[in-house]
Formats: sequence, C-alpha cells, structure tokens
Amino acid sequence: MKTIFLYLSLSLWLFAFEANIIKPVSTPDDLNIRKVYLGKDLFRDSKLSKDGTISCASCHPGDTYGTDNLKRSKGVRGQTGTINTPTTYHSRYFFAQFHDGRAKDLKEQALGPITNPIEMDNTIENVLKYVKSNNHYIVQFSILYPDGITIDNIVDAISEFEKALVSPSRFDKYLKTGDKSVMRDVELEGFELFKNYGCIACHNGISLGGNLFQKLGVFKPYEGTSLGRFNVTGKDEDKYYYRVPTLRNILWTHPYLHDGSIDKPYDIIEFMGEYQSGLEIPKEDIKKIEQFFHSLTGDLPDVIK
Ligand code: HEC
Ligand code: HEC
Repeated sequence: MKTIFLYLSLSLWLFAFEANIIKPVSTPDDLNIRKVYLGKDLFRDSKLSKDGTISCASCHPGDTYGTDNLKRSKGVRGQTGTINTPTTYHSRYFFAQFHDGRAKDLKEQALGPITNPIEMDNTIENVLKYVKSNNHYIVQFSILYPDGITIDNIVDAISEFEKALVSPSRFDKYLKTGDKSVMRDVELEGFELFKNYGCIACHNGISLGGNLFQKLGVFKPYEGTSLGRFNVTGKDEDKYYYRVPTLRNILWTHPYLHDGSIDKPYDIIEFMGEYQSGLEIPKEDIKKIEQFFHSLTGDLPDVIK
C-alpha cells in the first residue's frame, strides 16, 4: 500500500515537474540570414499598407521588444482596435498566434494585419504590385526564391525575420549553467516565489507562456474586451480563455492583459495572484517577483541592433 502511494506521489511529482519545466532560449542557428534581412525590410515597410503610413513595425517596434506600449495601437487613418498588441518576440515558440490562438503559426498570422481594415487595410493584389515594382525586392526575391515574388514568399520572408526575434537573458544563462552569480539574490528569491505562488503552472515552457490556453479569472470573474478562445470555437466553456502570454521581456511589454488595462508590473503581479492563483500576495513578495522579471529582459538580437 505504502509503495503504491509512494509510487503514485512520485509520478505525480514528476508529471508536475515535467509539465512546469522552464526551458532556456538561445540565439537561433536555424535561419537563412538573407531571408531574415529581407523580412526585416518588409516588416518595416509602410508601403505595404493602403495609405503608406503603417508598417508591421509601427505596432511591433523591434527595439522595444516587439510592442509599442500603447493600450491600443494605431492602424491606418488613426484607427484603433479592441485588443492590446502582444510582442512579436519569441512568437516562433508560441503554440498558436494571437490572444485567442486563431492562427496556427507565423505564416498564417502575417497576412491578417496586411488585409485587416483597421490595421493596414491593403489588398494582396496591391501588395504584390508594389513589391514587384521595387528594385531591391526584385533582386532579393530572385536570389532567394526560385519562383520570385509571390504572396507566400513575402509571408515566408516576414516570418523568417520574426523567427530571429529571440532575446536570451541572464535568466537563460542561469538555467543553462546553474551559475547563480549571473542573478541578483533578490531575483533568485523572486523566482522561488514565482514557483511557490503557482505562476509557473501557467507561465512555463521556453517562453514562460505561449504554450497553453487558460481562463482569465480563475478565482474571480473578469470581463475584458474579448471573449477569447470562444471567438474561435463558439463553445461556452471557452469563454474568457486566452493563450497564456510570454513573460520574457515583460518589463518592456506593458500595458498588460489582452485589454491593456494594467500598466504597472506591481499591479499585474498583484492581479494575477488574486484572479489566477487565488492568493493575496504580500507586498514584499510582489516586489521580489518584479525583481525576478528584470532577469527576463534579454539582449536584442543582432538583426535589430
Ligand atoms: C495597427 C497595429 C498592428 C499592425 C500594423 C500589425 N500588428 Fe501584429 N498585432 C497587433 C495586434 C493588436 C495583435 C493581437 C491581435 C489579436 O490577438 O487578436 C497582433 C498580433 C500579432 C502577432 C501574434 C503575436 C502573439 O502573441 O500571438 C504577430 C506574430 C504579429 N502581430 C505580427 C505582425 C506582422 C507580421 C505585421 C505586418 C504584416 C503586423 N503584425 C502588423 C497589432 C498590429
Ligand atoms: C491559471 C493560469 C495562470 C496563473 C496561475 C498565472 N497566470 Fe499570469 N496570465 C495568465 C493568462 C491567461 C494571462 C493573459 C490574460 C490576458 O491576456 O488577458 C496572464 C497574464 C500575465 C501577465 C501579463 C502578460 C502580458 O503581456 O499581458 C503577467 C505579468 C503575469 N500573467 C504574471 C503572472 C504571475 C506573476 C503569476 C503568479 C502570481 C501568474 N501570472 C499566474 C494565466 C495565469
């Protein structure tokens, strides 16, 4: 009996450990660098939008870790949507794209903003016409793609650029080597608290998020500006489920939540404790978790520097 109990608790513990494991990131070595730079040019080219004013980088600037820090980003003609702009950094690792996970990968995602009437409001025909009229693009596409300029290849280059948006941090060094000297003591304490308060149950994997859907408002109902996963599946039980966001570079990617309603790291940690873990986290502990977040700010990738 005792052995069975021991065996059961051990396997449960192992399961929890496996499921919760946080993995380090490294600078990717699987990229075609010429495609990355072509993708970067497309990503920053506002001529891909209907009126020539908005590029992908308008809402996802690279040097501020892929977000514009606005509650609502501005699309063409100053229009705004209803949802906060998430970071493009580490999106290659997310198991689905968007807050509600409606696109399966970066390639499926990239066409969305170009034709979205609030964002870039363009047509695929216009984008092709423009790219085919630009000498730099004509040359680059002819070198890199046997079939030259097509919408698939445009999307491929953009997503190759996005795959380069990985920013290893001191925390990754710590995870890889176990060397505690790369972390401040208070950051290590913050990481322990992060585990103890159950944050790691949802924010785990290679991006400390991005690998599961979870309800916002587990312990206290919360109504944001979107029904989340319900918009995709139409199932009642998916209401208020969102893809858990990454916590990498989290001090840079405010405001927080899909509705951008919380601006300060302190406030979002307090909120998460209350709504997601069902706990009132003491002030000092919130501050330590916030210090832990400093260790998640990574080095900008070469393609951005
Ligand atoms: C007007 C602002 C705006 C523009 C322009 C824009 N985006 Fe976004 N982007 C957003 C918003 C808002 C979301 C979240 C939408 C949602 O979840 O429903 C998003 C989501 C994403 C995501 C998913 C990230 C995640 O965490 O799931 C990626 C990748 C992305 N955009 C790439 C691009 C690319 C590539 C372009 C250019 C072709 C682009 N964006 C143009 C605002 C913008
Ligand atoms: C039950 C799952 C769950 C737990 C536990 C949880 N979170 Fe979250 N967290 C989420 C979800 C889901 C979101 C996104 C909600 C949204 O977009 O509106 C989120 C968002 C966040 C954000 C904002 C990220 C952003 O870019 O908007 C931070 C910071 C955060 N959590 C930190 C924590 C901390 C710290 C803890 C522990 C005290 C914690 N979370 C516990 C599921 C969880």
